[in-house]
Amino acid sequence: MTDIAQRKADHIDLAVSGDVAFRQTTTLFECVRLVHDALPDLDLDAVDLSTEILGKRLSAPILIAGMTGGTARARDINRRLAAIAEERGYAFGLGSQRAMLRDPAHRATYEVRDVAPSALLLGNIGVVQARDLASAQVTELAQSVGADAICVHLNPAMEVVQEEGDRDFRDGLATLERLVEEAGVPVVAKETGCGLSSGVARRLYGAGVRHVDVSGAGGTSWVAVETQRAQSAKRALGETFWEWGIPTAVSVAWSARAGFDTVFATGGVKSGLDIAKAIALGASAGGIARPVLQALESGGAEGATRFLDLVERELRTALLLVGANDLEALRRAPRVLLGDLRAWLEQGS
Ligand SMILES: Cc1cc2nc3c(=O)[nH]c(=O)nc-3n(C[C@H](O)[C@H](O)[C@H](O)COP(=O)(O)O)c2cc1C
Repeated sequence: MTDIAQRKADHIDLAVSGDVAFRQTTTLFECVRLVHDALPDLDLDAVDLSTEILGKRLSAPILIAGMTGGTARARDINRRLAAIAEERGYAFGLGSQRAMLRDPAHRATYEVRDVAPSALLLGNIGVVQARDLASAQVTELAQSVGADAICVHLNPAMEVVQEEGDRDFRDGLATLERLVEEAGVPVVAKETGCGLSSGVARRLYGAGVRHVDVSGAGGTSWVAVETQRAQSAKRALGETFWEWGIPTAVSVAWSARAGFDTVFATGGVKSGLDIAKAIALGASAGGIARPVLQALESGGAEGATRFLDLVERELRTALLLVGANDLEALRRAPRVLLGDLRAWLEQGS
């Protein structure tokens, strides 16, 4: 197995069964209270969850967030989850396409268009890799798998804890600015579990980025994943930074203020109620990674579908219970922001 393939295999194993969640840090969605409407003048079945993102119609604002690629097992995961996204009208993200750069034969492990011909499909590459590629090569990564947009992931915390990780993060913003100008495919700036601050959101917007995935803290800790893989010295470093990051609810609120066209709320999203809260804070859709993978691993495609069906029903119920007949109405729904979330929003930007 190559080093990338081994790392991908470790990531899947640890994400499925390892101790890789934040221990204390939460998304702070628990600090968002949507106000109950005891008199909703609505029919639950007529509540409209559909939305348009990056030019595609989704039947519900749900993204199965990018996880994998590069191995036979990854191919199977990508294809089974992409087929569910197609069937249910969700968006689907591929994992980092770095393995494809090393060996074009790995393209097949990212190939899902035959099972998901119309789903909103997101490609994926790290900003450090993208910095060293010509814009046309990034375009090619997206086009070769039929992706509608490319996520450029930002993951400095994970990299510095990873034994073989990157150390030099210079020119990330310049890389994104160049890609927005030259790649000819929409660029989504994506964190990987540590969130985007209001300052970073403003810098991204200023550089021309119009789509983000906040991927905040409170769900899978990628520092934790790499800590579990690391040898002793890096392990101690990882333990210290295990809880590092900006809670997802905070990052969504800040990113919404920056004015992006698309804000995916990924990171610790566990339920349709979390997605409802994210949308009320200004997100375009909620993204879920690890819980979907776990449902797939434990219950197969049927298990993953059952989980996502519940998420969708929870979201629909939340809309009804705040008296919102669609996502636009949900964005205007009364809410109360409590404690820690208020502290972050008041002091952190
Ligand atoms: C097994 C696994 C592999 C992942 N690989 C990638 C990746 O290659 N690129 C990326 O941008 N994010 C990757 N992520 C991060 C997720 O897209 C997401 O941002 C993060 O896990 C937080 O979401 P969660 O709490 O729902 O897991 C991966 C997540 C998992 C669980």
